[in-house]
Amino acid sequence: MKELKSLSLCYTNKTLLVLNQQKLPLESEWLICESPSHMRDIIYALQVRGAPLIGVAAAICLAQYVENGATIAEIYAAAALLKSARPTAVNLAHCIDRQIAAFEAAQNPLAIIKMAEALFAEDADLCDKIAKHGFDLLSSGDNILTHCNTGGLVTTGIGTALGVIFNAHKQGKKLHIYVDETRPLLQGARLTTYELQQAHVPYTLICDNMAASLMRAGKIQKILVGADRIALNGDFANKIGTYNLAVLAHYHKIPFYVAAPYTTIDFSCKKADEIVVEQRNPDEVRGYGEMNWSTPNSPVYNPSFDVTPGELVTGFILDSGVFTAQELRSLCKTYSSTIN
Ligand code: MRU
Repeated sequence: MKELKSLSLCYTNKTLLVLNQQKLPLESEWLICESPSHMRDIIYALQVRGAPLIGVAAAICLAQYVENGATIAEIYAAAALLKSARPTAVNLAHCIDRQIAAFEAAQNPLAIIKMAEALFAEDADLCDKIAKHGFDLLSSGDNILTHCNTGGLVTTGIGTALGVIFNAHKQGKKLHIYVDETRPLLQGARLTTYELQQAHVPYTLICDNMAASLMRAGKIQKILVGADRIALNGDFANKIGTYNLAVLAHYHKIPFYVAAPYTTIDFSCKKADEIVVEQRNPDEVRGYGEMNWSTPNSPVYNPSFDVTPGELVTGFILDSGVFTAQELRSLCKTYSSTIN
């Protein structure tokens, strides 16, 4: 496999390195991924995270396994294992399924390696297209609220929702970003602030429960989030807390946009109740890291994602343009006939 490098993934000298997103922003630790089961653990622990990145990381891991001489039975077992790492983001299954389809079509395991390289390059390209399509939606002077982390750390390019922001900022639009801290794992506080600071985009960090009062005060002009799985009717899963924002945006009449590549659309999923939402360890809510601040053994509800109805979305900023939920269905028909 050729050498590959993005903000948080690196394949060099036949070694797969991933930036440990649980240590950021205090420490930049690169982990060496040893095997598909190690990658499964890395993805489950959110050391590699975000819908596009877990797909590409798993794909490179499978390609490396092939390069190291895995048998056909081992390839199929590893593919199934990698796909099981997290259930909600469809990009993971999308990438692995494309590798297996390429392998079966070519009857040659090397197709898995070629496909990993293609997926890596495609993801960066999709980010650029999303950023381009989202450009006109943002105006100088906008205060934009975002949730979780959707930038260069979770793609091989500039990101999805944050990619639109980075591109508009680079092209001279004066933006200010309100960053939801994103409990329980603080992707906003730790990672989005890190990326915005590196890109010199002005921002303010808020606790998740402060968004409503900012909207009521007229301080938010737009909301931009990413997605982990988009159903054909526009219902979509994203980090827990996204649905709250969509409902608030509707009440306050604030445009609410979802930025995602087509690899996040689940062409087999018709609506919200078919989306599986990952439930996570209760300790993530009882405290953070080593610190536990709740009454010991408190019962906990900890879904990693929530599902927002498509009707609350002003526009889906995709790599092919900006669409309403109603427009999405006919678009999906075109996409599914071109990708295979
Ligand atoms: O649990 P995480 O941190 O992997 O969740 C990530 C998100 O919800 C992102 O918003 C989504 O994957 C889009 S990333 C471009």
